Amino acid sequence: MMDLQHTLCLLLCTTALTVYGLHGVNVINKPYFWTEQSLPVLLEANTTPLNSISFTKQKSDEEPGDFCGIECQRNLLPLDQTQQERLLGYETLHENGTCSHTDVTLRDFNQTSELEHTPGGGHTRRKRHVYGADGRFVISDSYFITNYPFSTAVRLSTGCSGVLISPKHVLTAAHCIHNGRDYLEDAKKLKVGVLQIKTKKKKKKRS
Ligand SMILES: *[C@@H]1O[C@H](CO)[C@@H](O)[C@H](O)[C@H]1NC(C)=O
Ligand SMILES: *[C@@H]1O[C@H](CO)[C@@H](O)[C@H](O)[C@H]1NC(C)=O
Repeated sequence: MMDLQHTLCLLLCTTALTVYGLHGVNVINKPYFWTEQSLPVLLEANTTPLNSISFTKQKSDEEPGDFCGIECQRNLLPLDQTQQERLLGYETLHENGTCSHTDVTLRDFNQTSELEHTPGGGHTRRKRHVYGADGRFVISDSYFITNYPFSTAVRLSTGCSGVLISPKHVLTAAHCIHNGRDYLEDAKKLKVGVLQIKTKKKKKKRS
């Protein structure tokens, strides 16, 4: 039996949505700046049922050629509207164990502004940055773990962390349960537990 009490919001599509508003200048000491640009509106179209999920992939399963990181994406041609829409379509795994695919359409897609960001167009993104003060920190002491909103941080049995966004929904990274082709075997019986303080012995509490 699949333990799908914690329906996961798969945000596979968000990685494909490239926000071009950020314009990096490929010269040291030149500042980064934001250009004003309207983004297309994403509209949901058809939702169709999919075959049942096999949960066959291992976390370590490589899918050669599938992954295109920042360096690789720089060399890709800009996508037209149809290609963007295909990439942004997403799967939903429902609580009852069924799966569906939702097609999306983009309203106000501007092909001209996409073309401005072709490799020859001067658009580069050299590395990921945190803009402004970096307020990130590891939640590892008892004060933060037990206090709102940090108390909503959870650990998944696949090894990832996530955040409870409702009593039954955990927001986590897509790669924690899916390798881009199929759901990971570990995601079939997903357990959600509390974060542990580092010094304590490992013991996961089933929630
Ligand atoms: C499972 O749940 C989804 C979403 O609530 C629903 O559309 C679908 O008809 C359900 N399927 C079955 C077999 O109950
Ligand atoms: C599309 O983008 C180009 C370049 O960014 C801009 O000049 C043009 O006004 C935009 N067209 C529309 C309809 O928004």
